[in-house]
Amino acid sequence: MAAVLCLSALQARAQWPYEAPFVPSPQVVVDEMLRLAEVTKDDFVMDLGSGDGRILITAAVKFGARGIGVDLDETLIYQSEAAAQNAGVAERVQFLRQDLFKTDLSKASVITLYLLQKMNVRLRPHLLALRPGTRIVAHDFDLGDWKPDFKTTVRKNVMLWIVPANIHGHWRLNLPLPGGAQTWELDIRQKYQEVDGVVRVAQQPPGGLWQAQLRGERVSFTLVDSTDRENEAMMYFEGVIKGNVMEGEMRRGVGNKQTRHKWRAERFKP
Ligand SMILES: C[S@@+](CC[C@H](N)C(=O)[O-])C[C@H]1O[C@@H](n2cnc3c(N)ncnc32)[C@H](O)[C@@H]1O
Repeated sequence: MAAVLCLSALQARAQWPYEAPFVPSPQVVVDEMLRLAEVTKDDFVMDLGSGDGRILITAAVKFGARGIGVDLDETLIYQSEAAAQNAGVAERVQFLRQDLFKTDLSKASVITLYLLQKMNVRLRPHLLALRPGTRIVAHDFDLGDWKPDFKTTVRKNVMLWIVPANIHGHWRLNLPLPGGAQTWELDIRQKYQEVDGVVRVAQQPPGGLWQAQLRGERVSFTLVDSTDRENEAMMYFEGVIKGNVMEGEMRRGVGNKQTRHKWRAERFKP
């Protein structure tokens, strides 16, 4: 409902020369966007289509962040610069008159969006190419079939995406099991942050890769160790992906029978 109302507010400004007209996010929505993205003083926030600059100015005033806003409208850029000056954060934020589709986004740790959905979808490949772990937070309009990692609705929808690492492909997993070290193969498929796959172990039918979760570079999943029928156990994996290597800690079993092991996997085919 809120999205429909908002869309009509945006469409009502049909005379605006740019694809998305200037409609400011209400201050409580700005606050919620920055809270959901967990912005801190170490973040570099980029607001694409920055309007009167309120998102960046709030990021600097309330969270101590730095950043850049871009907008095509020159008057809004001047207005934003004056507002940043008044708020005492002109040193921390910069406003540039430029096309958001031609803007280098690589410095951002957080990207904020209040644009129309078709613009968000056009931006999507550029967002997916950012450093894994980069947070993208949007007001009202989503990123098409890339589902948000988190969403809150308080008057308006606010959605958060975390750029996922590339985990797709075939991996060899070195496992320290009670009966001795083994190498298992994982075939992993990925659509955005959604992951599924199978595990192949010598002389056994393929098993499931359960409860897989990918947030930026952090991955977790569960496998079942059935190599010893008398001593089957769940194995809970947590780790980090860096390029073609993922590694971390695995907990095998539960309660006072649980053991902890280091694990490492290497991608041998994308
Ligand atoms: C809905 S307003 C959002 C303003 C601000 N981000 C906020 O949430 O309060 C969208 C803004 O995007 C700007 N805009 C539209 N197309 C753009 C483009 N291609 N490049 C840069 N800015 C653009 C408009 O001028 C407008 O100020």
